[in-house]
Formats: sequence, structure tokens, C-alpha cells
Amino acid sequence: MQDQPERVLSTGLSPAKSEAGGLSHVSGKTVVCGVIGDPVEHTMSPAMQNAAFRALGLDFAYVPFKVTREELRVAIAGMRALNIRGLNITIPHKVAVLPFLDSVDPLAKKIGAVNTIVSNGTTLTGYNTDAGGFIQPLLERGFELRDSRVLVIGAGGAARAVAFALIEGGARVVVLNRTPDRAHELARHLSQHTPGRAEGGELNNDNLFEAMSNTVLVVNTTSVGMGTPEGQSPIPSAFLRRDILVYDIVYNPLKTRLISEAQAAGCRTIAGAEMLAWQGALAFERFTGIKAPIELMKQQVVRSLTE
Ligand code: ATR
Repeated sequence: MQDQPERVLSTGLSPAKSEAGGLSHVSGKTVVCGVIGDPVEHTMSPAMQNAAFRALGLDFAYVPFKVTREELRVAIAGMRALNIRGLNITIPHKVAVLPFLDSVDPLAKKIGAVNTIVSNGTTLTGYNTDAGGFIQPLLERGFELRDSRVLVIGAGGAARAVAFALIEGGARVVVLNRTPDRAHELARHLSQHTPGRAEGGELNNDNLFEAMSNTVLVVNTTSVGMGTPEGQSPIPSAFLRRDILVYDIVYNPLKTRLISEAQAAGCRTIAGAEMLAWQGALAFERFTGIKAPIELMKQQVVRSLTE
């Protein structure tokens, strides 16, 4: 197909805006990465990854692909055919994508979910950077995980990566979930696949109160609190003690009700935007082989979430 410059003009973008978008560098040699999911419209990854590529002067470009469940197999075949270097995988494909890969990193295999695929030109390898992305903010704060008691609220896909990362770090994990069967099942799975110990139970006030009274870190992995700062909190504020570190993996809003109430109670806190930036940074390192500009990626996440 021939170039059609008039079509480019009809997008309505001014030349300055196109330049700011960073596509002017794209050439026949540009290395392509992206994210697949459904929905994918609200993803922060293109802004975060392209900002990092630009900052380091890398000839890479990162784009979103909306891929339905039915199209997942052909999308991954397309990744091979189109010579795409790397993909991030988001809802609902993190588990379903496993059978289509040539190899899966041992941690991702244990977690049972992949959020990053890297192609070396012939083989596709799956990784899970959610687990590492979750742990990095704790490491940055010098938090001692070994033998510490940690409470994980929720037992869905995100909880799985979080709980594995915690157990790998030597923590003792209690999982409480609205649907107790899922908490028990996750605790059983963790106990089978790691040398660590995990317990499961129902998310109710009695169990929460007891778990909170002897935990040093609590992590919210549920969607409770998502959407608005005035939203719900999964923990009654009276249960928050100032010596507990409160980590909410919900990143939108930047400050959830749980984080606000924890700060008011004098707790140290970690907001979900940090994990989001770190999982992206670890994926960037898999795609490029270069150390990620983490501070810039954190700033970009905050900018995207406040726009
Ligand atoms: P993700 O991959 O983001 O973890 P998920 O697998 O759908 O998504 O898991 C969502 C988690 O949030 C689950 O632990 C869910 O509890 P259930 O297993 O009982 O569904 C939890 N969750 C969602 N809404 C909740 C609510 N209003 N109160 C408590 N837990 C909630």
C-alpha cells in the first residue's frame, strides 16, 4: 500500500502534538513491543514504556492491542509472525496465555500467570513481573520479610503473585478472602509449591481483627477502593495500628481510602502506583536488556493517573 500523507493530516493532530507523541522516530528498524488485553483502553503501559524508551534514546515503540479471549491464540501466533519483541499481558489473558508459549520462567510457572512475554526471534518465554514489581517497593524501604507475619486480603489473580513473592521472601502469609474457599485453595497451593507456610480464612471482622493484631504488613489485593478516593476500604479504620505497613495494590485513585485512613492512623504506606511502575520497569528490562529508568517511570504513572 502506498503512503497516504493526506490521511495522516486528517487525524487532526498538529505536527507539534505528533512530535510530542514520539512516533517521528519510528522506522523500518524500530523494535516493536506492546500490551494485549480486553479492555485495554485504560492501560498506563504505553505512556510508561514509551517515556522510558525515549529517555534512553532506544529505537523501540510500544502499542496497545485489544485482543479478545477467542483471538488470544492467533494473537500470540501473530506476535511470532510480526516479529514483535515483547508483550505485556493483562486481563483476562494472564493465565490463558501459558499454553501458547515455548517456555515459562519457573516463578511464573509456580504463580500460574504470565504478564510479560519476550521473543528472542525464535522462542517465546513467559515471565511474571507482577511478583517482582510488588516486592521492589518493600526492598527499597529495607522491609525485612524473613519470618515476618503478613496479611494478604483477597485471593484472586493478583493475590497469587503477591503471596508467592512474599513467601519466596520468607514471610509467613495469612490470606483472607470474601469467598473463603478461594483463600483456602490459595493457601494450599502456596504450601504445596513453596517451603513456606500459608493459612487461609474468610474475610470477616473477627478474622481481620485477629490477623491485624499480629501482622507487620497488610496488603490489599482486592478491587475494593478502586475508582474514587471516597470509595470503600477493605479494613475498618479502627483496626489500623501505627506499626503496621499498609500496602494497597489498587493504583487508581493514587490515594485510596485505605491509604488515606492508614496515613491518618500513623501507618507507613505503599500505594499501588509504585508496584505498577516497578512491574513495568522489570518488563522493560526483559524487553531491552537495559536497566530501567524507574524514577521516570514512576513519574509517568503519576502523570497518567492525574491527567
Ligand atoms: P485480580 O486478578 O485483580 O485479583 P480477581 O481474580 O477477580 O481479580 O480477584 C478479585 C479479588 O477481589 C477477589 O479476592 C475478590 O473476592 P472473591 O474471591 O470473594 O470474589 C475480591 N473482591 C472483589 N470485590 C470485593 C468486595 N466488594 N469485597 C471483598 N472482596 C472483594
